[in-house]
Parts: sequence; C-alpha cells; structure tokens
Amino acid sequence: MGLTILVIGSGGREHVISQKLIQSPKVETVFCAKGNDGMKEDGIKLVNISEDDHLGLINFAKKNQVDWTFVGPEVPLLNGIVDDFTRAGLLAFGPMKAAALIEGSKDFAKNIMNKYKIPTADHQTFFDIDQAKAYVLKQGAPIVIKADGLAAGKGVVVAETVEEANNALKDMLENNKFGTSGTKVVIEEFLVGEEFSLLAFVRNQEVYPMVIAQDHKRAYDNDLGPNTGGMGAYAPVPQIPNDIVKEAIETILKPTASGMMAEGRAFTGILYAGLIATEEGPKVIEFNARFGDPETQVVLQRLESDFAQVIDDLLKGEQPEIKWKQDGYSVGVVVAAKGYPEAYQKGSLIPVFSTVDKEHIYYAGVTEEKGRLVSDGGRVYLVEASAKTLKEAQQAVYAVLNSVDTQGTFFRKDIGSKGMNEK
Ligand code: AMP
Ligand code: GLY
Repeated sequence: MGLTILVIGSGGREHVISQKLIQSPKVETVFCAKGNDGMKEDGIKLVNISEDDHLGLINFAKKNQVDWTFVGPEVPLLNGIVDDFTRAGLLAFGPMKAAALIEGSKDFAKNIMNKYKIPTADHQTFFDIDQAKAYVLKQGAPIVIKADGLAAGKGVVVAETVEEANNALKDMLENNKFGTSGTKVVIEEFLVGEEFSLLAFVRNQEVYPMVIAQDHKRAYDNDLGPNTGGMGAYAPVPQIPNDIVKEAIETILKPTASGMMAEGRAFTGILYAGLIATEEGPKVIEFNARFGDPETQVVLQRLESDFAQVIDDLLKGEQPEIKWKQDGYSVGVVVAAKGYPEAYQKGSLIPVFSTVDKEHIYYAGVTEEKGRLVSDGGRVYLVEASAKTLKEAQQAVYAVLNSVDTQGTFFRKDIGSKGMNEK
C-alpha cells in the first residue's frame, strides 16, 4: 500500500504540492483540506475541513489512516497546528509554533538576525508614531515601513518620500489599517539590488537548499502598481551568480537554522528567505516559514528527486536524497481577477485548457458552478511551462494564455523578462 497524505491549504501552492505528491509512485492518496475545485482534475481528494479546525483535521487524519500531513500556509503553522498534530501522535511537516514565529513577527526575525549576525537591512522597531516619524526624518527616503505581524504580503510600504513614509506610519500605528499586525512597526533601510527567493528544506541544523526563484510582487508590468501576494515567478534566476547563492546559504540559511536551534526553537519545515543581492552581498528582507506562492509552482518543477520521498525521509529521520535538474527553466504566470489586489469581481468563467504535457495549470481562487470552474478569489490560477531556455519557457506560457479567453482577469506580460535582459 502506498502512502496516504493530507495537504493543508487551498491555493496554487497547495495544488502543486499535492500534484507532485500524487505523481510519486510511493503515494496512493492525496487529500487536500480544503483545497479547491480545480485540484480535482489531478485526482486530489478535497476535504471540507477548515485549516483552523485542528481537532477536525486530526480526527480526519486518524480516521483515514493518513501517514503524514503537509502544511502549506503560514496561518495554521503560527496557530500551532504542527504542535497539535505532534501531541496527537501524528506526523506533520512544518515548523512548530515557536519556530514559525520567524515569519509571524518581523521584530522577532530581526532580533534573530542581529544576534546571529545574519546580514539584513538596518532597522529599528517602533510603537510610538512620533518617535517613528522622527526616525524617518533622520534617515530620509527612500525607506521601508513594515507592519510587524502577518499581513498577507500587503503590510510593507516602500516609501519614496518622507511624506509617504509618514502616511504609512499613520495608517499602521494610528488607523490600525492592519489590525493588531500594525501596532508595532519595523522601519528599515532601503536595499538596492536584485531580489530573489532562496528556499530550503530544513531539519534542525540540516539545510537542503532549493533552486532559487524570482517572484514579481507588483501588480503590473515593469514592477508598477501595488504590492500583491505575487504575480508570477521563474526558476532558476540566471542573473544571480552561483557564488551569491552559495554565500547566502553560508551566511543566511545555515546560521538561521542553527540560531533557531540555539534559541530552543528548532526549525523543521520549509524555510523561505526573501533576499536582495546588494553590493555588499545578499541580505534578508523577510523570512517565511513555508513554501512561497507562486515560487513553489516553478521551484518544484526543478526537483528531480521524488518529492514525497524527500518529505517522508525528513519526517522519519532518514537521510534525504535531493537532486535538482541541471538544465532548463520554469516560468509561472498568475492570472488574477480584474481589480486585484483591491476589490475584485468573482464568477468569471475559467477557460478549458487542452492537455499538453509540458504545460501545467495550478488553480487557486476557483470554484465549480454547473460543471464549470469560475473565479472565486484574487489570484485565480497560474500557468506554468518548463523548457530548455528561459525564453522558450516564457513563450510557452504566453502561448497558452493567448490561446484562451481570459475574460474578467488580467496577467503580467513580463514574467521572466528580467532574467533575459541582463544576459
Ligand atoms: P515583503 O512583504 O517583506 O516581501 O516586502 C514586499 C516587497 O517590498 C519586497 O518584495 C521588496 O520588493 C520590497 N522590500 C521589502 N523590504 C525592502 C528593503 N529593505 N529594501 C528594498 N525593498 C524592500
Ligand atoms: N511569494 C511570496 C510569498 O509567498 O510570501
């Protein structure tokens, strides 16, 4: 009998995680709670239990003889879902609550980085608006203002002027725009350089880095418009040289994993470092305690080893074998509802895609109505393609998108272009 696995989450990230698991010859069944209707096309079984119902999920896992559970999003991790599963005698992959705090509090993450000399932007934490404003005035613009807690990628303002910075401080500290996430702010030096995401499988002090990716946070082409959860990604990132990645592994990932151990907050799960390659070397702009979305939809395409086997080994104390493809690129373009990341419409018809081997569709904000998928969220789906060159992969994605009716939605036309400009 093969493995029975439960994946928690419902976006494109969880779609690709579930799909890679189900493709493994070791795996019999993949359940996803709650998942989305688009995942059913891949044989993933949806479970109608919400990600905050830990007890419901534990009971489901026991009743269905789930071998282990993979937790996709940050919210259940920060709510201690892995602690709860572990207490119930179940295996779950992801950091415990105490370790997930590296994503849950920017202030906590900054303290870890200071203590263990991990390169990051200079910064200071404030509760008081007058003190914060005085600091901004002293530092000058551009400057970065971050709400302390989780804000779904939207709690960061890169202020071009002191006035813009002051407005952001007012929103966070006075108007509670981000609720309790914004009662404390971190003000940070603006870093100049190319951005990239370096993720790793981590088990205590062991760090197994992945192929790097680049996300596109702004809504529109040429990095214009508001910040979003991510509008597309590609991997690897050719303009970031290997020695920078090696340096980031040595100066950032490894000391972070061992620092968390030393703090009594040993981290097991996916550690995501959002980095900027500055002239002084790579520096951290954020840590996440989970896979990135949309990075995962491209990074997992680069994995040559069996994903289910890797997680199984990590959970069971075995030595994992993790091999990455040496050649080729993957590009993923997010299709979002018109209006996203502000108010957007729901109910647009999702096109029916033809089954072409090298292309993949990963669904996120969709639901089934009268037998057809319609949009039901901000980020609706992602189209991914892999090819020998970045250009071919990009062309393949846009060929798919240009061949269908994308009514009610929009997508960026330049995902992957940065990787070609500088070559
Ligand atoms: P975050 O939510 O922390 O990933 O921040 C959102 C975006 O703001 C990042 O993807 C960066 O493009 C930008 N950003 C955050 N911190 C900095 C920084 N210190 N310097 C320059 N850009 C930053
Ligand atoms: N793509 C950025 C994130 O998942 O946080």
